[in-house]
Amino acid sequence: MKYLHVSYFVLICNLLSVCAQNQMKEFPIIPRPKSVQVVGGNYETHQINVLVVPAKSEEAIRIGKAIETLLQLPDLKVVKMSGSIFPKSKSITLSLVHHPDQPDYYKLNITKNGIWIQASKPNGWFYALQTLSQMVELSDQFSFKNKMLPYCIIEDEPAFAYRGLHLDVSRHFFPVAFVKNYIDLMSRFKYNTFHWHLTDDQGWRIEIKKFPKLTSVGSIRKSTIIGKPSDFPQKFDSTIYKGYYTQEEIKDIIRYASERFIEIIPEIEMPGHSTAALAAYPEFSCNGKPVDVSNNWGVFNTGQFCTKDTSIWFVKEILNEVCDLFPGKYIHIGGDECPKENWKACENCQAIKRRNNLKTEEDLQSYFIKQVERVLAKKGKTLIGWDEILEGGLAPNAVVMSWRGTEGGIAAAKLKHPVIMCPGTHCYFDHYQSLNPNEPLAIGGYTPLSKTYAFNPIPSELKTEAHKYILGAQGNVWTEYITDENKVWYMTYPRAIALAEVNWTDAANKNYTSFLSRLQYHIPWFKNKNMNITQGMLDIDYSTHSSKEGVVLLLNKPPVEGKILVESTIDGELVSEYLKQDSFILNKEISFKAWYQMENGSLGKPLNLIYHNHLAAGKSIELKETPSPRYFKGDATVLINGIEAPAQKFGGPEWVGMEGKDFNAIIDLGKSDSLKSLKIQFYHSPGSWIYRPNELEISISTDGTNYGSPIKYQISETETQYIQPNIPLPDAIGRYVKIYVKNHGIIEEKLPGAGKGAWLFVGEIEIN
Ligand code: ACM
Ligand code: ZN
Repeated sequence: MKYLHVSYFVLICNLLSVCAQNQMKEFPIIPRPKSVQVVGGNYETHQINVLVVPAKSEEAIRIGKAIETLLQLPDLKVVKMSGSIFPKSKSITLSLVHHPDQPDYYKLNITKNGIWIQASKPNGWFYALQTLSQMVELSDQFSFKNKMLPYCIIEDEPAFAYRGLHLDVSRHFFPVAFVKNYIDLMSRFKYNTFHWHLTDDQGWRIEIKKFPKLTSVGSIRKSTIIGKPSDFPQKFDSTIYKGYYTQEEIKDIIRYASERFIEIIPEIEMPGHSTAALAAYPEFSCNGKPVDVSNNWGVFNTGQFCTKDTSIWFVKEILNEVCDLFPGKYIHIGGDECPKENWKACENCQAIKRRNNLKTEEDLQSYFIKQVERVLAKKGKTLIGWDEILEGGLAPNAVVMSWRGTEGGIAAAKLKHPVIMCPGTHCYFDHYQSLNPNEPLAIGGYTPLSKTYAFNPIPSELKTEAHKYILGAQGNVWTEYITDENKVWYMTYPRAIALAEVNWTDAANKNYTSFLSRLQYHIPWFKNKNMNITQGMLDIDYSTHSSKEGVVLLLNKPPVEGKILVESTIDGELVSEYLKQDSFILNKEISFKAWYQMENGSLGKPLNLIYHNHLAAGKSIELKETPSPRYFKGDATVLINGIEAPAQKFGGPEWVGMEGKDFNAIIDLGKSDSLKSLKIQFYHSPGSWIYRPNELEISISTDGTNYGSPIKYQISETETQYIQPNIPLPDAIGRYVKIYVKNHGIIEEKLPGAGKGAWLFVGEIEIN
């Protein structure tokens, strides 16, 4: 292996990374505690010989025993005490302090008398145990070598009372043992609420004794879509997919969660997303027609309960059982994405509208939810719904889960309703988390770790007096594309760890660089447990722009100490080097891989870059029509940066998307040259309303004013999602190249997006 020759990477600027500050490293505890004082010196824990707990507290004994195991102590003598408790020497002591406003407060004190944990309530002891576990298990700096723990005082409490993580078990089912692992991991990061999405169009997953067909029919689908609904044509497997939890299993999971101070919120979707229930009991839809449990992803017209009295009776009976099963305060009734067409055509629904003086179908949905709230209230439960429950008016005590941005949450807080924030932009862990084209299939979006971390559940536009209505934030794990347990870990972690810190740590005490450094101590812990969590936050992304010298490439590194490693084959030999700069001029053919490597050796995925030098690379380009801001970052030189757009997906910085518009550009090559050919990339994905163009025209000029007669090119039909015609330019000489690509136009009947203007996606324009 030889070292990469500097001439391949011409330094244009040397952005020195911030020097490692010569400061003591902090404990790698996540979420970051409110205050940590390290006193100096270490306590030898093998001296501990007694566990002191308040009398009548089984929880204290259980948590004390867990600390014993963690510290590898022999079976300690348990001393139960009444009244005020202070640590005896050489003890683990758990005691309660009076902090009525801080129910999750704990103070972990490692002193010459051993370990003393004071808490407002038993859950505080449990949080202290999590903090202690991380100190013992993770850090080599503060390691538990020779059974020594650093003398310290950690005082801690969360910023938000509600700290939630969700799991959709309808689209894909996860067995009891996995759900327990999921809960375990939540408790490690001080989550306190598990939102269990138990029903949806694709499967009903909770046993309801009164309606056995909900599971005998509703938990089984006959096939499942392969790939995305936007694929055209759609493909399906022919495999039966099924699964549900019995009530005994659910009780077992509830018990397991409650030992970890986690409350479970069951979600029973209504009135929409209910195809699975209606496959079992079609009589409760508007038209009563039989339907199958859905084998596709999306929002379907087949999946709504009718608003007639018998349908409301049906959901009330279900909810009565659910309320009896789950001891927690909240029941989630969904309420999202309910198409109203069937209601509009239904005599029963229209009669209810008239009877109740309701004007719109939104009012009808609000009527339905209010009926449901009454039954929950009788059972002493509080209703939670997705932010659509605001439409038509909120039920009196409803809690709103704001997912379509924070707007629903803001509106609800202004109405003095409690709010849980989980906007898709920051809290949807089914989104892509890296721009690397080799990421496993995800639903879409782009929610990198840094974005989740930056989330503030309190919107800046909300007045101080309304802040109290924001209970906290939740991460949502929808499983359309999360088919197995490994992928749950990959997609959920570490974003769920970032959100844990969002919920727990005061905004002023959050710092992404510190978070990334602490997180690196946690990664080996996951690896030891064979959990493949992503290191996508270490992936390098890049940007380019044109300059006089050529294409400027900037490698964007994560904000944490580390180095960029590049590897390339030069003159037939593999060469590799740590880069000293992150910005280069590309003006020769090169292909290389670049990784970010942290100080501890952790690596992100490689960035594979192939730079092809051509006449237009690094030159200037003017667009006559503005692309859609969703697929254009504002600099058209991505179209002539020598880097091809990836063939496998149209997201990402290299593709430019025109919504219903033609593409019309002029490239200035800087000087006149003899031109042989023009190659141009187009994407074709009818399911996403992206259509290849049928024709284009190229005109050439030496002065930018007078153009020769256009060269017309017809693009032949193809089913491939990516095409790259190479168009000969016979005897052409010129400096200015005008390219006009006609949009496919209005999409024809029977094709996806019929009647709408097609999208036109353009990638690299290569001129040779
Ligand atoms: C949702 O993502 N439909 C709540
Ligand atoms: Zn109806």
